[in-house]
Amino acid sequence: METYGLHQYPGRLFIVEGVDGSGKSTQIALLRQWLISEGYTVFFSEWNSSPLVKKTTSRGKKQQMLSPTTFSLIHATDFADRTEHDIIPPLKAGAIVLADRYIYTAFARDVARCVDREWVRELYQFAVKPTKAFYFRVPLETSLNRILTGRTELKYYEAGLDLGLSTDPQESFKLFQQRIIHEYEAMVDEFQLTVMDASLPIPEQQRLMRRLIQPHLEGVQRRRKQLSHKNWPQPATIISTELHAKER
Ligand SMILES: Nc1ncnc2c1ncn2[C@@H]1O[C@H](COP(=O)(O)OP(=O)(O)OP(=O)(O)O)[C@@H](O)[C@H]1O
Ligand SMILES: [Mg+2]
Repeated sequence: METYGLHQYPGRLFIVEGVDGSGKSTQIALLRQWLISEGYTVFFSEWNSSPLVKKTTSRGKKQQMLSPTTFSLIHATDFADRTEHDIIPPLKAGAIVLADRYIYTAFARDVARCVDREWVRELYQFAVKPTKAFYFRVPLETSLNRILTGRTELKYYEAGLDLGLSTDPQESFKLFQQRIIHEYEAMVDEFQLTVMDASLPIPEQQRLMRRLIQPHLEGVQRRRKQLSHKNWPQPATIISTELHAKER
């Protein structure tokens, strides 16, 4: 595989990063709908979704036998598979690829699990550099409130219980997330991440994201719109429809 760097393909790659509950999936789903409505061909790839590692991950998690290095290697395998099958081909074809979490998730989580910082960066050398990488910055209390509301149980690895920081899952989760935030913050300058204020209301963040990617859409192929401009839903309508759907 080629080494990490700016790709020369005609497509664009936009990715979202941030701690659990920072609002990444919410924003990327809205962005996807908007791009499709604008006539772009959009592909979507999600962290840890490759069928290649599914069985191994699930068995390893169930038996709590994943060391930080094994965990890291499994994620890198997942990512390599998706890079080759889900990311590079659409970029070559001139499409837009959206990724929910990217290599920075590995850099933040694996290092929070005490994996060597340089080693994990080396491991992902083959990754395609995103056209724009958004980092959703949010106070820990806000993201915790968002995801812990209505949840009774945190999973073993999700809570970082493998690190032995605390035997209480919620306390362990907080300490683990704090370490992850520390890594993300250090990466803002290292990888020129675009920081989003993730405590803002959903529509406001979405408007800003669209504005920020707009300049990068120049020259990207798109289909002719099906509807006349007058009938086409405005961004605000799309957002409110989406919010409505989420509320139900
Ligand atoms: N700006 C916001 N203000 C208030 N609530 C929000 C905001 N953005 C998202 N949420 C809510 O917070 C919860 C988590 O959002 P979302 O699933 O998008 O986060 P995430 O970053 O993808 O989390 P994870 O990393 O766990 O997948 C959802 O219930 C969502 O509706
Ligand atoms: Mg998500």
